[in-house]
Amino acid sequence: MSEPKKLFIKTYGCQMNVYDSERMSEALGGQGYVETKTPDDADMILLNTCHIREKAAEKVYSELGRFKGLKAEKPDLKIGVAGCVAQAEGEEIMRRQPLVDLVVGPQSYHRLPEMEAKTRAGEKALDTDFPEEDKFEKLKNRPKAKRGPTAFLTVQEGCDKFCAFCVVPYTRGAEVSRPADRIIREAHDLVERGVREITLLGQNVNAYHGAGPDGDMTLAGLIWELNKVDGLERIRFTTSHPNDMADDLIEAHGTCDKLMPYLHLPVQSGSDRILKRMNRSHTAESYLRLIERIRAARPDIVMSGDFIVGFPEETEEDFQATMDLVEEVKYGYAYSFKYSTRPGTPAAERAQVDPAEADDRLQHLQALITRHQREIQDGMVGRTVRVLFEKPGRLPGQMVGKSEYLHSVHVKGPEIAVGDLKEVRITESGANSLAGELL
Ligand code: SAH
Ligand code: SF4
Ligand code: F3S
Repeated sequence: MSEPKKLFIKTYGCQMNVYDSERMSEALGGQGYVETKTPDDADMILLNTCHIREKAAEKVYSELGRFKGLKAEKPDLKIGVAGCVAQAEGEEIMRRQPLVDLVVGPQSYHRLPEMEAKTRAGEKALDTDFPEEDKFEKLKNRPKAKRGPTAFLTVQEGCDKFCAFCVVPYTRGAEVSRPADRIIREAHDLVERGVREITLLGQNVNAYHGAGPDGDMTLAGLIWELNKVDGLERIRFTTSHPNDMADDLIEAHGTCDKLMPYLHLPVQSGSDRILKRMNRSHTAESYLRLIERIRAARPDIVMSGDFIVGFPEETEEDFQATMDLVEEVKYGYAYSFKYSTRPGTPAAERAQVDPAEADDRLQHLQALITRHQREIQDGMVGRTVRVLFEKPGRLPGQMVGKSEYLHSVHVKGPEIAVGDLKEVRITESGANSLAGELL
């Protein structure tokens, strides 16, 4: 047998890109590729890119520039760009960086094997279609390798919401849900390979409406089906939109034992004027009432969110409304970003906020979020949580895993194995993680 070819994949952006990178690696596995951890010995380099903010998109070009030397030494090396920058910029990437051999969008990567063959024949390969066929089905015959205790599983993709700042509806396309039976089959397959926790992914995961045995299924319906899978211990999902937080999903947070008490529910701003300008179609008040209902169903739930500061026309008063909302919700985690102009989106045409002002607001918001995050984490000390252990820690004999609430927990215990789910009493709260001891 010939030496396997080596594939180096670098992943940027959201969890869906992480899932997609696994699928691309498996697709190219059929072409005789195995993954390598460094670009230096690779026969193919794939950058799986993100277009969400300008910085993320520009990073791709500086990264590509760095491969010039490698390509000069090794003319057979193939370089590909996948993901959302590939979708948004297409052929332009090859014009800007001629060493790129292949450009593949997020909806066409099941066609990678043919594209790779084309590059081997010395041609350039470009595919940014939104094909009709189900890419997940094309990819299902994958190697059954053992894997770690946690996995992502894409159930829904794309978005029809068109928030005024966001590229996702353009890069991922229209909202599509996968049929429930295929997801359940994939979950069984993951569990057989050692997975104990699955995070269901979608750009609007709670809008899930995939075909089930009796018509369309909701996300809650799907979660209840997965709750029956033996050996699967934990279910999470991300990312949700406030407008799609259906009653049955809220209820499941109170009643479904495998569904974890953590919810990522981005609000973006606390100002109704800005929310309207963002085309979010919810208000600060409706969001707060929603959280009240979620907390009534599951009082200990840890909330997480996303914020944009410095959105066009945001005033100091609008920003204060965001601070007030954060003060009221108290997030266990929250991700905040300075608004980044994305060409082609409606907000790009509007009056921009002074960047220094936006930086200042971002700092204030992040300080408040960090304070809450720390308070919630510190509040875990003395409590007993269940930890799913994922890997060895930095210290000898130490293992690290995640609690139900997604906090990282360090435990000393040479007897603990990766994949164990154990009760831990929390003894300490550090900068970014907890420490505890086995019960
Ligand atoms: N589908 C998810 C997340 C999409 S992108 C959702 O609807 O919540 C992740 C986050 O990036 C968004 O929640 C938003 O806070 C941020 N984001 C998106 N576009 C942005 C832009 N143009 N500038 C800054 N942040 C942005
Ligand atoms: Fe982007 Fe809005 Fe869709 Fe989320 S809901 S992916 S922020 S357009
Ligand atoms: Fe980025 Fe595309 Fe995800 S733009 S955040 S990789 S959907």
